[in-house]
Amino acid sequence: MAGIAVVTGASSGVGREFVRQLDHGAGGPLDELWVVARSADKLEAISEQCQTPVRVFALDLLEESSYESLRDALDDQEEPVQWLINSAGFGKFGSFDAIPEEANANMVRLNCLAVVETIYHCLPHMVSGSRIVNMASIAGLIPQPGLSTYSATKRFVLDLSRTLDYELGPVGIHVTAVCPKFMDTGFLNDPGDQRQVRRMTTIGFEKPEDVVRKALHAAVLGRSTCVTSPDMAAAALLAKILPANLVMKGQDLLFTARAGE
Ligand SMILES: NC(=O)c1ccc[n+]([C@@H]2O[C@H](COP(=O)([O-])OP(=O)(O)OC[C@H]3O[C@@H](n4cnc5c(N)ncnc54)[C@H](OP(=O)(O)O)[C@@H]3O)[C@@H](O)[C@H]2O)c1
Repeated sequence: MAGIAVVTGASSGVGREFVRQLDHGAGGPLDELWVVARSADKLEAISEQCQTPVRVFALDLLEESSYESLRDALDDQEEPVQWLINSAGFGKFGSFDAIPEEANANMVRLNCLAVVETIYHCLPHMVSGSRIVNMASIAGLIPQPGLSTYSATKRFVLDLSRTLDYELGPVGIHVTAVCPKFMDTGFLNDPGDQRQVRRMTTIGFEKPEDVVRKALHAAVLGRSTCVTSPDMAAAALLAKILPANLVMKGQDLLFTARAGE
C-alpha cells in the first residue's frame, strides 16, 4: 500500500534531501509528499521539482495553530502516513547565558515539542510498516558544553525515539533517531558564537545525502538509533563507558588542540 510522507524542515538541508530521496522511491511508493516549513517560496519550488504530488504546508512549528492545520489535513485524507520525518530544528552555539533566552526556549520548542506534536497528530494515521524518523544528533549521545541546550534537546529526541520505538514495535511501527555529526547546511548560517563553531566543527562534516541514505536504510530495518559515521559511533561508545565530566574535558582538550588555540 502506498501512502503519504510528512517531512518537516523540508525547505532546506537534511529535510530537503529526505524529500529528494523519498521522491526517488527510497522509501517505497508514495501517493503524496507533504512538506512542512515556514518558507512557502522554497517549498513551492521543491514541489515543482518532484515527480510525486506534493502538498505544501507553510507553517511555523513554534505556533500552536500550525498543528491544527496539520491535524485537519490529516483527518481529511484517507491514505495512511507511511513516513513521518522530523527534520525541522536549529541550534545556537555559545555559553548558555550568552544565548538569548528566547533562542534557548525556541530550541526546546522546535527541537522537542514540535517532534512530540507532529508524532501525536500523525500516529493515529499510521499503520504497520509506517516509520518515524527523528533528526537527533551526535550531540544527543555525547554532552556538548558550548551547545548545551541544543545538546539536551537532542538527548530528548534520542530517548523519545528509543522508548516510542519499543512501545510501537509490537504494532509494526518503528522510530529511528538519526545521530550525524556536522553537515554544511542552513544549520550553520546563523549559529551564534563563531569561535565555538570553529572549535567544534574540527570533528568534520558529513554529507546530507549520505546521512539521509543511512537514515532511511536504518528506518526500513526498524533500528531505533542510527549513528551515521564510524568515528562518532566509536566516540559515542567511549562516552557511554566514561564519566560525563571526563568526556567533556576530553572533548575540550581535543577541540583546543585541533583548532590550534
Ligand atoms: N547540520 C548539522 O550540522 C546537523 C547536525 C546534526 C543534526 N542536525 C539536525 O538536523 C535537522 C535538520 O537541520 P539542517 O542541517 O537541515 O538545517 P537547516 O538547513 O537549517 O534546516 C532546518 C529546517 O527547519 C525548518 N525550520 C526552522 N525553524 C522552523 C519553524 N519554526 N517552523 C517550521 N520549520 C522550521 C527550516 O525551514 P524554514 O526556515 O523555511 O522554516 C529548514 O527547513 C535539525 O533537527 C538539526 O538539529 C543538523
